[in-house]
Amino acid sequence: MNIILIGPPGAGKGTQAATLVATRNMVQLSTGDMLRAARTSGTEMGKMVAGVMDRGELVTDEIVIGLIEEQLTTADAAGGFIFDGFPRTLAQADALGDLLAKVGKKLDTVIQMAVDDTALVKRITGRFTCGNCGEGYHEEFKTPAVEGKCDKCGETDTFKKRADDNEDALKTRLMAYYKDTSPLIGYYYAKGQLQQVDGLGSIENVGADIAKALD
Ligand code: AP5
Repeated sequence: MNIILIGPPGAGKGTQAATLVATRNMVQLSTGDMLRAARTSGTEMGKMVAGVMDRGELVTDEIVIGLIEEQLTTADAAGGFIFDGFPRTLAQADALGDLLAKVGKKLDTVIQMAVDDTALVKRITGRFTCGNCGEGYHEEFKTPAVEGKCDKCGETDTFKKRADDNEDALKTRLMAYYKDTSPLIGYYYAKGQLQQVDGLGSIENVGADIAKALD
């Protein structure tokens, strides 16, 4: 299956995508992760998008569509693709439809993860990740079994926070979501592809609801 996880910043897209990768052999295509990797490796594109991302604004359609196109034509995804954080504008949604058609694939479903803004602030401000393997955690909702040590790779003292996980950038990210991305909910509803899950439950319960929607 090829699916889109759509929801505001902190809705849990990355968390649920990781579960789907582990349980269903799917491939996660997160444009946010790709852009952060470009920044870390210091490419020209990475340098160009750094300020935009830190302010919480959207990177140009051209850049992110290019990143997705590259992955769609090279990645081996027997279990299907999970689009996480893409598309985020109507132009990106149209481009995704065209790109999938070009490689002989189709979009199976779009899962909208609904979470209210108060919960988002708590999730974003409490988030941290392992600097070595990228595993995601939360100060309250998902803590490592041993303090300071990553459950997944075992590295110690590498935890870090994202530069855009602060109050100012979050306001801009939420504004971008409501202005540019939320119209996609109507777009996919009209195409008969939209399903909604309650993203406010526990990580496990949201995962179970997504599994139900997919099966
Ligand atoms: P991106 O990396 O895509 O960020 P985002 O959409 O803001 O989403 P997040 O990663 O913040 O949230 P998430 O929904 O994945 O939540 P998570 O699972 O981590 O984009 C970053 C930037 O890149 C953008 O601002 C933009 O500049 C640029 N960009 C990226 N794609 C772009 C595009 N297509 N076009 C243009 N620009 C683009 O969960 C959050 C926290 O909550 C974690 O700590 C987690 O442990 C916890 N949590 C998760 N689920 C639950 C739960 N059910 N209960 C309790 N806690 C939970």
